[in-house]
Amino acid sequence: MQLIESARKITRRLLWTWKPGSEKEAGDAVVKNLLLHWFPNRTSLGSLSWGYSFWLGTMAFVLFLVLVLTGIILMFLYVPSVERAYGSIKDLEFVVSFGWLMRGAHRIAAHLMVAVVFLHMVRVFLTGAYKNGSSVGANRPLNWIVGLGLLVLTLLLSFTGYLLPWDQLAYWAITVGTNIASAAPLVGKGMRFILLGGNEIGQNTLIRFYVLHVFFLPMVLLFLFAYHMWRIRKDGGLAVTDHEALDQRLEETAPVRTKTYSLLGITGSGSVHVQNRMVDEERNSVASVPHLTRRIWLVTIVTVVAVIGLTLLVRAPLEAPADPSVTPNPAKAPWYFLWLQEIVTISTVRLGQLTINGALIGGIVLPAVLFILALWWPFRDRSGLHTVGIWFARERRTQNLVFLCICVLIVAFTIVGTFFRGPYWTFYWPWEAWPSIPVKF
Ligand code: HEM
Repeated sequence: MQLIESARKITRRLLWTWKPGSEKEAGDAVVKNLLLHWFPNRTSLGSLSWGYSFWLGTMAFVLFLVLVLTGIILMFLYVPSVERAYGSIKDLEFVVSFGWLMRGAHRIAAHLMVAVVFLHMVRVFLTGAYKNGSSVGANRPLNWIVGLGLLVLTLLLSFTGYLLPWDQLAYWAITVGTNIASAAPLVGKGMRFILLGGNEIGQNTLIRFYVLHVFFLPMVLLFLFAYHMWRIRKDGGLAVTDHEALDQRLEETAPVRTKTYSLLGITGSGSVHVQNRMVDEERNSVASVPHLTRRIWLVTIVTVVAVIGLTLLVRAPLEAPADPSVTPNPAKAPWYFLWLQEIVTISTVRLGQLTINGALIGGIVLPAVLFILALWWPFRDRSGLHTVGIWFARERRTQNLVFLCICVLIVAFTIVGTFFRGPYWTFYWPWEAWPSIPVKF
């Protein structure tokens, strides 16, 4: 009996914060709990709604945690050496108990993270959440820039991980990717040399990519993510909170009869009524515990289940061991760079003796222009305060439309590059068989 009572006490101690009995307990839960202390005491109803953020940022972070967890397990078994890397991945696939599951989950979570972070950026743009609204001291443009840093880190993390299995797919995807980057004028070749640790992909490249992948990039990402979250607190919550506060202010069109200065009505003169301009924060918000914490749990569970489900459905590929003397045709970059490879091909034009260098246009100039535009956009966008934190604001219609067109083009080129390109980068329907091409040595 006493044992049951003690077990109950321990469970209550561990779990009481999830089901507070009063407002005070809910507040205490946030302050006293190590994991929860970085949440605000109360969260606005708009931020909690599923249809505002689609919780994509939270999903991205859960995927990152899945990657860290499965990555640590993989580190016990993977050997970053040209001679042994492929063998250790093969062991993981076919010998180690549940090794295929760990590798598969790691791979699926990495692909999903790239897609989810991209969708999160699209959502932030379409809700105008990179702009400052009515909250004092906000600097949302800075958080947008931090977000762009997180996007680049996510891509680099995935790119560096791509090489590690040391199979043909890995070797040639990285060859194509780094060749595109080397087209940058002046610095391109030097950058490629530093990244690869030489002119060719070899042991130096593998160890560089490994250290970047397992230590340097995740640490920087974690640090930037912590800053990203801290900024959201400093900015007064998600942008939708500003919108709710603005709405509440607009509701108060008529002065509220809160105070009278007419000397208890004894004097004959008219009375003065003072309008209350304070926003009632309690009205549009609820305690973070349990409302926010419950939703985060749900998003976590759904994301983890999706990763496991997809891992069971799609087996991670492992081709023949990397062979620099056998060039596959076509050799494709990792899927998230295929839109660039597609543009490189389209913009490579031969006019007699003259060749217009597509790698420079598609691989360097275009992504650089898009990135600089993205950095600059929060400062260029002059739409009003009422457009911050709402989907498809009328005043932002044109810029939302242009942004969406760019995103649709990126997705369309990625799909074409992935499913519709065969040998010599010619167009094939997915169900069409490719002709057998003699292998290039
Ligand atoms: C590793 C990548 C990223 C992670 C883990 C992450 C995480 C988050 C989380 C958890 C939120 C809270 C709201 C939500 O769930 O949507 C958020 C908000 C935000 N994120 Fe990210 N983010 C990432 C990348 C990005 C990128 C690529 C951008 C834009 C270029 C961005 C810009 C923002 C902005 C401006 C907000 C505030 C949104 C608002 O006020 O409505 N983030 N992020």
